[in-house]
Amino acid sequence: MLVYKALYRKYRPQLFADVVGQPQVTVTLKNELMAGRISHAYLFTGSRGTGKTTCAKILAKAVNCLDPQDGDPCGVCPVCRGLDDGSILDVVEIDAASNNGVDSIRSLIEESNFTPASAKYRVYIIDEVHMLSIAAFNALLKTLEEPPAHVIFILATTEVHKLLPTILSRCQRFDFRRIAPEDIAERLELVCDKEHVEIDHDAAMLIAATADGGMRDALSILDQCIGRSTGVINYALVAETAGLAGRGHLEELARCIQQGDRSHALEIIDALYKASKDMGRLCEELAGYFRNLMLIKTMKDARAVVNAAGEELDRMTKLALSMDLSAILHGLDAFQSALSRMKTTNKRTEMEMTIIRLCSPELDTSPEALLRRIEALERGGALRRATAPVQEGAVAVPSPAQEEPEKRREETGKQTPRSGSAPSIEVLSQNAMPFEAWPEIIAIMKNYSHSVAAAFQGSAAYVSGEYMLIEAPQIAFDLLKRASQRDKMREAIQQVTGRVYKLGPYKPPTASPDRAGKPENTLDQFIRDMRDAGVEIEEK
Ligand SMILES: Nc1ncnc2c1ncn2[C@@H]1O[C@H](COP(=O)(O)OP(=O)(O)O)[C@@H](O)[C@H]1O
Ligand SMILES: [Mg+2]
Ligand SMILES: [Zn+2]
Repeated sequence: MLVYKALYRKYRPQLFADVVGQPQVTVTLKNELMAGRISHAYLFTGSRGTGKTTCAKILAKAVNCLDPQDGDPCGVCPVCRGLDDGSILDVVEIDAASNNGVDSIRSLIEESNFTPASAKYRVYIIDEVHMLSIAAFNALLKTLEEPPAHVIFILATTEVHKLLPTILSRCQRFDFRRIAPEDIAERLELVCDKEHVEIDHDAAMLIAATADGGMRDALSILDQCIGRSTGVINYALVAETAGLAGRGHLEELARCIQQGDRSHALEIIDALYKASKDMGRLCEELAGYFRNLMLIKTMKDARAVVNAAGEELDRMTKLALSMDLSAILHGLDAFQSALSRMKTTNKRTEMEMTIIRLCSPELDTSPEALLRRIEALERGGALRRATAPVQEGAVAVPSPAQEEPEKRREETGKQTPRSGSAPSIEVLSQNAMPFEAWPEIIAIMKNYSHSVAAAFQGSAAYVSGEYMLIEAPQIAFDLLKRASQRDKMREAIQQVTGRVYKLGPYKPPTASPDRAGKPENTLDQFIRDMRDAGVEIEEK
C-alpha cells in the first residue's frame, strides 16, 4: 500500500548542510565535530519548526558515524543505516510533554549507565524539556552533573525561560532563529521542484510570511496547497488555503477609516453581514490588518513579520505610509477593545459603532482620537468629514494633503499654487528639524550617479512631518524634476530612515523677526493645551 508521507517528514534534512537558515548552529557543530570536541549536554532552543529535532537527529548520527564527512554523518555506514532503519537503538527520543514524570527520567538514567549496544554514544534527545516535573528535572540535573562518558543529552525546548539556571549552566546552548522568508521560499521552491509541482515566487513568499519563520508550518501549508491545486500554485490559491482569501474588504475598510468615509464603511459592513460574515471574526481580521500596518509603519523591513506578500503587501505599504502612526494604533486599539466587548454586546452594533468612531475622530473624545486630530492639523490638513453621502461605486479621491506637491505640479505641467489643506513649504520649513543623516543619503546617491551626488555637494536636509525638505543649489532641484531621480532619492532616504518621505525644498525662515520672539502659532498652543490636559503627545 502506498502510504502518503507529509512533506515536512519527507524533506527532513539528513545533513547539517541541508538545514536552512541556522548557520550559527550547523557551522559551529560541524567545526566542533571535526575537531573532536563533543559535549555531553546540548540545549537547542527556538520556536517550533525551525530545525531543533532535525539537528538533534543529525548530531546523534554524526557522533556515531563510522565515516563522518566534514562533521556530517555519511549516511551509508552500518551505524548510519542502522540508526535510520531503527535496528540500532542507541539514539532515544523522549517527548517530555507526555513522559514528564520522575519515574521515566529515573529509568532513562538507569538505562544510560549501560554502555551503548552498537554505537559509540548513547544519545538521549529530550524534546519539550521544559515540561518535565520538578522532581524529574532534579533527577536529570544530577546526571547532567556527572554524565557517563558514553552518554550525550540533547535537550530541546521552545520555552527556554522555563528552564532552571542550573540546567542552563550545564548545557552548551544553541539558539535556533525564525527562518527568513526568503530562505523558506527558496526551500519551498526546491521541494516543489523535486515534487514536480510548479509554484509562483509570490505564492512561496506568502506561504513563508504566513508560516512566521517556521519551516514545518510552511511545508504543511504547501502540502495543503498541492492537495487543492490542479496546476500552478499561485498567490490566490495560497491565500485561499491559508484562510487569507478575500481580504480586499479589510483593505477597503482601512481606506475608509483613513479617509473618514463612514458611509461607505457602513455599506461594506452591511454587505458582509448579509453575506453571513461573523462580525467578531471581521473585528479580529481588522485588528490583524491594522497590526500589519503598524509593523510596516514602524519597522525598517517588515516583510518578515507581515502576513502578506507581493502586490497585496505593496498596497498595504502604501496605505501604511499614508496614515499617521497614531491613527493606526488608534484603529488597532479600537478593534481589540471592541472584540472584548463583543462577548456581551450585539456584535454588529459594536462593529458599526467602532467603525463610525474611527471614521469620525471629531466625534471621538478619547485621547487617541485627539492625538489623531492633532497630527492631522500638524500635517496642515483636516480630516475629511464624510457628511455627504458617497455615491455607489465612486472611487475615493485622496485629499490634496495626501498627494505629493511635485506630482500635482507634474500633472498640470506648471507650478500650481498650493490650495486648500495642503501644507505650505513655509509652514513646513518653520517646523522642520535638521536631518543629521543627510550625508549618508548623498553617499548612497553617489553609488547611483556621481553627477547627481556632486550637485548635492554641501546640501542639507530637514524633516518636517512627512516631508524631507532639502536645501540645495538650484541645479540640484533641476535634477530632482525628473521622477526617476526623485524615486532614487526617496529610495535612498527609505534605506537610511526606513520611511518614505515626501520631498520638498527647504525655505529658511526669513531673517526678520526672531522665531523665539514670535507669538506661538495656534497649533503649538493647541498641543500645549492638550499636554496640560494630560494627553500624551509623542514628538515625531
Ligand atoms: N532549518 C530547517 N531547514 C530545513 N528544513 C527544516 C528546518 N527546520 C525545520 N525544517 C522542516 O520542518 C520539519 C520539522 O522540523 P523540526 O526539526 O522537527 O522542528 P523543531 O524545531 O520544532 O524541532 C522538518 O522535518 C523539516 O522538514
Ligand atoms: Mg521538535
Ligand atoms: Zn555514517
